Amino acid sequence: MKFFVDTADVTEIREMAETGLLDGVTTNPSLILKSGRDVREVITEICGLTDGPVSAEVVALEASAMIAEGRELAKIARNIAIKLPMTWDGLKACKTLTGEGHMVNVTLCFSANQALLAAKAGATFISPFIGRLDDLGVDGMELIAEIRAIYDNYDFETEILAASIRSADHVKQSAIAGADVATVPPAVLKSLVNHALTDKGLQQFMDDWAKTGQKIL
Ligand code: E4P
Repeated sequence: MKFFVDTADVTEIREMAETGLLDGVTTNPSLILKSGRDVREVITEICGLTDGPVSAEVVALEASAMIAEGRELAKIARNIAIKLPMTWDGLKACKTLTGEGHMVNVTLCFSANQALLAAKAGATFISPFIGRLDDLGVDGMELIAEIRAIYDNYDFETEILAASIRSADHVKQSAIAGADVATVPPAVLKSLVNHALTDKGLQQFMDDWAKTGQKIL
């Protein structure tokens, strides 16, 4: 499973990139707002921190305007994935932009039928929003499993990008359900390494090692 980090905060992206485990980045207009930075400037900087796909979202709502914005965003760097909303106009723009060789991430997916449409439109990534479904009492993981089954039935190459991830359990369940990618907030990504027994075991090894009086270097 690939890990993308879901933020426009370059300090956090740099920190995750240094682990060598980062495969890409996703942003959206809300995350750009949170960063407080100019969209071109921050996306350019992010694209320099990873070779993986960096999702940058259009804000137009009509297909031809989306296509124009997408082409403009794609000029920023070769690893831009143009993020388009799950609407008919978004799907039309997806068909055109992927036809031109651009990566496209179709976002705001909440149903398997929407994911089917995105795959038929040639999307590189489909982003089902797990957490926002869970917020409504709907099992977001079931959606990932449904999309996996549909894509496998027809050999669609569109990658399932589990989004709106809120917890370590969401990451685990997405991996079990067969998502290709999880885009994860930095704090959740960092938390994946944690286990109380790891901390306890490490402390015991350190204490016992100190008692041996030995050194490795
Ligand atoms: C990523 O592509 C999405 O924009 C993001 O995961 C949405 O997450 P949220 O529901 O926590 O805002």
